[in-house]
Amino acid sequence: MQKFVYEYPTKVYFGEGAAKEHLEEAVAGYGENVMLAYGGGSVKKNGIYDEVKKILEDAGKKVTDFNGIMSNPTYAKVQEGAELAKKEKIDLILAVGGGSVIDCCKIVAAQAKTDKDLWEMEMTEHQFPTDVIPMGAVVTASGTGAEMNGGAVITNEEKVIKAGMAAAAPRFAILDPAYTASVPRMQVISGAFDTLSHAMETYLGNSDQDNVSDDVALAVMRNTVVNMRRLMGNSDDMQARGNLMWDSAMAENGILKVGRVTDFQAHQIEHQLGAYTDCNHGQGLAVIHPAYYRHIVKNAQEKFTRFAKEVFGADTAEAGVEALSDFIRECGLPTRMGELRSKVEITPELLRNVADTCNVIKCGPRELCRDEIYNILMECM
Ligand code: NZQ
Ligand code: ZN
Repeated sequence: MQKFVYEYPTKVYFGEGAAKEHLEEAVAGYGENVMLAYGGGSVKKNGIYDEVKKILEDAGKKVTDFNGIMSNPTYAKVQEGAELAKKEKIDLILAVGGGSVIDCCKIVAAQAKTDKDLWEMEMTEHQFPTDVIPMGAVVTASGTGAEMNGGAVITNEEKVIKAGMAAAAPRFAILDPAYTASVPRMQVISGAFDTLSHAMETYLGNSDQDNVSDDVALAVMRNTVVNMRRLMGNSDDMQARGNLMWDSAMAENGILKVGRVTDFQAHQIEHQLGAYTDCNHGQGLAVIHPAYYRHIVKNAQEKFTRFAKEVFGADTAEAGVEALSDFIRECGLPTRMGELRSKVEITPELLRNVADTCNVIKCGPRELCRDEIYNILMECM
């Protein structure tokens, strides 16, 4: 174990009816101006918007809507939200949605408190915001675990970069599995694959032997796979949706990452693929993971063998990677670039750009060169 300091800033209210039971209490300590932020309208169709708005109004809050936050939120949308937050003197931002809404709000919370360009401040000056508008999250689609940490993934369309930014973690998170009932099964599966990826990428970072995080990561992987299978059998299985919701939180609440380094190379490649194509995050990962792991399996034989045995009941490291690939197929997730939803045609030139602009991780099983990343991407065509 390396040295670490662990402090957890998010109060979690989990379970059916969590918003009805706890949202009023969660927002009580903040000023009256609340920004109610959401995506493209699913919360209006399924009644969550009305329920949350009523709770806020009954609690004496003045509610300002910030809507239309898209999947893979853009830096331009962050600026729009920050302007609105300043204009309405917002005291609390309430993100009601999946990872995209939550991430956008995390950065709005920081951008609204400074006249500096937050992207430049973080990416060029390597300075990070300390003054933020408090925010909370009501999760309506799980998988990213965005409600459990202070990072946000934002697409800068001008620069064609999708990158992690730092902000403040939500002060509280409402996790009601029933709020995910209307999420289409394929989105739940895509989100759950993201969770599986977070645990795998954390596990594959270098760690000392018998590291407790490795054991917990494997348990999260196993549980995610079991509940994805349950959900494929029955879309209405609320226990499975609840388990996946907590798996998602567990994978990204920092517990798995303390005292160790992580890999996250597949994520870095997928984020840049997302910058060029706007593809679904979990689905992009599903395409990339098997090809990436075939390249590095020899560099982490012991870890891959344990993963194979404990997650998929396979005998060897290589068989584990193929079992993962089979599982992706079993889930109906995309396995090829051509199956991804993309705003442009995915060509070898586009993949070359992805390979040339993604971050390269130095603490995974092996550092990749850009040509090898390009080869991995081409193997996914
Ligand atoms: O926009 P609406 O209409 O709400 O529809 C959304 C969206 O189309 C829909 N949805 C959400 N709740 C629903 C629902 N549909 C029906 N019923 C509901 N209750 O689901 C669709 C996808 O939502 P989105 O938030 O985009 O998905 P996800 O949660 O997978 O978030 C993806 C984003 O999170 C980032 C990804 O890169 C991507 O930008 N990530 C954030 C991380 C973090 N902050 O820790 C870590 C991850 O690795 C990831 O990079
Ligand atoms: Zn992810």
